[in-house]
Amino acid sequence: MSNLKGILIGFGNVGRALIKELVSTEHSLDIIGVFSSKGGVFVREDEDLKTLLKLATLDIKLKNHVSFKENFTYQELLEKQEIDVAFVSIPPSYRTGEPNLKIYRSLSKNNVNVITADKTGLAINYNDLLEEYKRKDLFFGYRATVAAGIPAIDLMRGLRGRQVEKIVAVLNATTNYILTLVEKGMSFEEAIKKSIKEKYAEPDPTVDTHGWDPAAKISILSGELGTHIPLEKVERIPLDSVSEESIRSSFKEGKRVKYVATFDVVGKKAFVRPHVLDAEDVLAKTVSTHNTIKVLLEDSEIILSGPVGPAWRTAKVMVTDFIEYKAKTNKDT
Ligand SMILES: NC(=O)c1ccc[n+]([C@@H]2O[C@H](COP(=O)([O-])OP(=O)(O)OC[C@H]3O[C@@H](n4cnc5c(N)ncnc54)[C@H](OP(=O)(O)O)[C@@H]3O)[C@@H](O)[C@H]2O)c1
Repeated sequence: MSNLKGILIGFGNVGRALIKELVSTEHSLDIIGVFSSKGGVFVREDEDLKTLLKLATLDIKLKNHVSFKENFTYQELLEKQEIDVAFVSIPPSYRTGEPNLKIYRSLSKNNVNVITADKTGLAINYNDLLEEYKRKDLFFGYRATVAAGIPAIDLMRGLRGRQVEKIVAVLNATTNYILTLVEKGMSFEEAIKKSIKEKYAEPDPTVDTHGWDPAAKISILSGELGTHIPLEKVERIPLDSVSEESIRSSFKEGKRVKYVATFDVVGKKAFVRPHVLDAEDVLAKTVSTHNTIKVLLEDSEIILSGPVGPAWRTAKVMVTDFIEYKAKTNKDT
């Protein structure tokens, strides 16, 4: 059987880690195009691939590739070549969903299967997006969009048909880190500056501190359980609505403040708010690099907790999707 043909859209932290995963392991896949915001590389020969690997290893941008062509787009490549699968690792776009939604539409129009790490397309347009791919019998893999590293999406899928009352979760590592710094005596401002400097937070920290990131993730989890709450309907209370003093006094009393994302399945509502938690609550024990998801159902609780991100782990989760795609489409060799 001949190899599958793939493209990679986005050559940042995740894209670079992914190219290392895909090229160094035997996946019966030929990556024939790689794209960033300004152009792309048409991978014609082994030498192009070797250079991509080199750039990825040294954390260098795609525009430094010798074969980089400005304004060369994946659409242009799709006109010349049939592509089986596109790996999408572009920045999220919480407010409009664009150009991400446009990219997904254009890929489905060209019958290209997708594996993505971008959570915003689904958070904004979960039902339409997945229906479109299903209707065309295309695969849309998105395990990396929520808690990349622990099987959050698989957990939700495995609970369909059960009486789930509520999901409560710590889904954002950055705010978790900021809160631990504030507990130790820093102001919010100092803690945010430190987390940007250490690359925990995005240059625009409101993505985390105003709850956009955890809201998008809980929105996707709600969709997985059959009642999608679109991103704009997820209530977001900013992290600093709780005072620095009360974070520290809670800590002294053995409690923890965490930024908790909730999906109230019965009330069909989702929200992200800072919460004071008892020390023995499993969510309170979530360390900065981890996420924790607590599912309240029937007469019990299910807990999933573990390390999520950074880019290398996210890339591995995209490979998990790729393995599923190959198995589902009988393209496993
Ligand atoms: N980092 C993680 O651990 C992690 C974990 C889970 C999910 N994610 C998600 O994964 C995605 C990628 O994250 P990242 O950390 O790799 O981001 P990043 O380092 O900022 O890289 C983004 C890449 O996308 C390219 N890009 C931007 N707009 C584009 C467009 N319209 N068309 C083609 N390429 C475009 C950028 O091009 P330039 O090089 O020209 O700027 C860059 O190469 C995000 O959606 C993020 O939320 C990340």
